[in-house]
Amino acid sequence: MTELSLQGRTAVITGAASGIGRALALKAAAEGMALAICDTDAAGLEATADAARTAGAEVATAVLDVRDPAALAVFAGRTQGSIALVFANAGIARRRPISTQFLDELRLIFEINVLGAIATVQAFLPRLTAQAERSQVAITGSQASLVIFDGIGAYTASKHALLPLAEALAAELAETPVGVSLIAPGGVATAILGKGVASASPTVMPAERAADLIFAGVCRGGFLISTHADLAGMYVARSERLRAMLG
Ligand SMILES: NC(=O)c1ccc[n+]([C@@H]2O[C@H](COP(=O)([O-])OP(=O)(O)OC[C@H]3O[C@@H](n4cnc5c(N)ncnc54)[C@H](O)[C@@H]3O)[C@@H](O)[C@H]2O)c1
Repeated sequence: MTELSLQGRTAVITGAASGIGRALALKAAAEGMALAICDTDAAGLEATADAARTAGAEVATAVLDVRDPAALAVFAGRTQGSIALVFANAGIARRRPISTQFLDELRLIFEINVLGAIATVQAFLPRLTAQAERSQVAITGSQASLVIFDGIGAYTASKHALLPLAEALAAELAETPVGVSLIAPGGVATAILGKGVASASPTVMPAERAADLIFAGVCRGGFLISTHADLAGMYVARSERLRAMLG
């Protein structure tokens, strides 16, 4: 496989107004890439764009909701240059028991985390498959794509759904210059975790460190990209629990 070239090419990032998305944008800028970034949060998006421009990047922004395929299509149509990376990163989490969770909230989580990610990929795929140069689509799952966390059942289910979807996509695109990654971050200090969580756990890492690890994984064309070494052990423990239940 040829090396994924970044310099002078474009990185697309959804959910770029904050957290991991903002850190990915600044990492891409530091790699000499142009940016096409979007979010629902206009002020946060502009702050990311300003920081990336200060770092020397050309930046195009779009205030949009990833639940809106038509807006994503316009965004994709306006994106300039050769696209090297598409980060379907926007996501939300809600800590609530499934037994009492409003169906509207469940729907929202799946619409943003699952359908929004796939809609993002679908909007950019025609461009990517038409390019001769290699590109990589990176869907942000979570450790919760592989293991179960208490109190966030809907989020965990939505992130689990992304794993088979990304695997199917990778198989479908195997003969094209487009690679697929599923990013599986562990705890990263961002707004999604809520106030106080960042300092509460020693395994929570800064978003900039997560972005470095994600970029390294994506550039080597890895499918499953983990930011934390404890994921493999947690996955084995979960698999063994399920295996034991099978008798
Ligand atoms: N922080 C963590 O510990 C962690 C761990 C695993 C996975 N993740 C995943 O990383 C991704 C980024 O999250 P983060 O931690 O940076 O959180 P964050 O809240 O800091 O950033 C998420 C961004 O997505 C945007 N967004 C939300 N809904 C949107 C929509 N419908 N359309 C467009 N943009 C929307 C938000 O406005 C925000 O800017 C998410 O998919 C999240 O599930 C985070």
